[in-house]
Amino acid sequence: MHILLTGGSGFIGSNFVRFALESRADLSITNLDALTYSGNPENLADIEHDKRYRFVHGDIKDLDLCTRLLGEVDAVVHMAAESHVDRSIIDGRPFVETNVLGTQTLLDAARRNNFKGRFVHVSTDEVFGDLPLDQPELKFHEKLPLKPSSPYSASKAASDMVVHAYHHTFGLNVSVTNCSNNFGPYQFPEKVIPLFVTNLIEGKKVPLYGDGRNVRDWLHVVDHCEAVLAVLEKGKAGQTYCIGGNNERSNLELTHTILELMGKGKEMIQPVTDRLGHDRRYAIDPRKIESELGWKPTRSAWPGALEQTIKWYVDHERWWRRVKSGAYREYYQKQYGNR
Ligand code: NAD
Ligand code: TYD
Repeated sequence: MHILLTGGSGFIGSNFVRFALESRADLSITNLDALTYSGNPENLADIEHDKRYRFVHGDIKDLDLCTRLLGEVDAVVHMAAESHVDRSIIDGRPFVETNVLGTQTLLDAARRNNFKGRFVHVSTDEVFGDLPLDQPELKFHEKLPLKPSSPYSASKAASDMVVHAYHHTFGLNVSVTNCSNNFGPYQFPEKVIPLFVTNLIEGKKVPLYGDGRNVRDWLHVVDHCEAVLAVLEKGKAGQTYCIGGNNERSNLELTHTILELMGKGKEMIQPVTDRLGHDRRYAIDPRKIESELGWKPTRSAWPGALEQTIKWYVDHERWWRRVKSGAYREYYQKQYGNR
């Protein structure tokens, strides 16, 4: 099977390329990525000469390019997106442009090709809004209505709806995944775990928003990649699959664990003004994907998986220092020109 993967140079995409090529000998991947600030070709430096991998530098909003590429592949895994909530609060426009119009462009390219292959749209649990802290029995599941709160989650919810509409109206063979917060190697250090870990290595404090009681359900990125592959191979058209780690932690608990694992004291916490509209709690009920597709997380056990992730950042200091300084762009310009 030849997959068109969008956003393969980002955090989850690059982990997906590595995981999918390692676990399926008959699979090849074309990675379409615009290399925005979070797309880093260094994430796949060890793969770029693999015969089963091809990189195409381009934008999912380019209908002619997407139409050509859709004509060459058997399936699509769509991950390209603007992905950071704080950036969407500063400027929502690129979120609507990439996440909504980009997704629609890709779907139109599928229609132009009369594409019959599987199309997996990778989305977030944030489309469901948030959950109260005082009702731990409540979790997100596939039958909930979408009720996003941030400009990021609103753009992802809109894209999910467009994807479902293209199934309903044109019969495209699509499935949507809504996954909880990921952690692991190659995550851009604007997201909380790599930001806090790299700040601590640099001797800086960690900026904890508000009262720190907000809860996230943490899943190792490779568990997420395995779930996406399961949905690609075994998922049903028109269906949504919620993916989560059964691993709820408050930001305060997460921060204390990181400090402890890194041998740092609580004086390294810098309480800062809360994020605008900060969602309180996310949690996933993963029973559908577990029972229908036989997927379960096996790499997310806490705190061992967090400890391994911290070690990865300690061992890959050159990578994140270059990412934090934007220096990988030199590599990118050498490889792909100054576009
Ligand atoms: P990321 O920001 O690390 O990577 C996004 C990638 O998309 C980058 O390589 C970027 O260059 C590329 N891209 C952006 N705009 C593009 C465009 N117009 N055309 C082509 N490529 C473009 O994000 P991530 O954390 O890897 O997230 C990947 C997907 O998974 C996103 O759709 C996100 O909504 C979803 N998701 C993320 C999480 C998480 O915890 N990170 C959880 C659930 C779902
Ligand atoms: P983040 O990694 O941005 O993911 P998301 O907003 O998509 O859940 O943030 C995870 C949690 O950590 C969220 O509740 C906000 C909080 N946070 C901080 O307290 N400080 C920070 O500097 C960042 C980036 C996030």
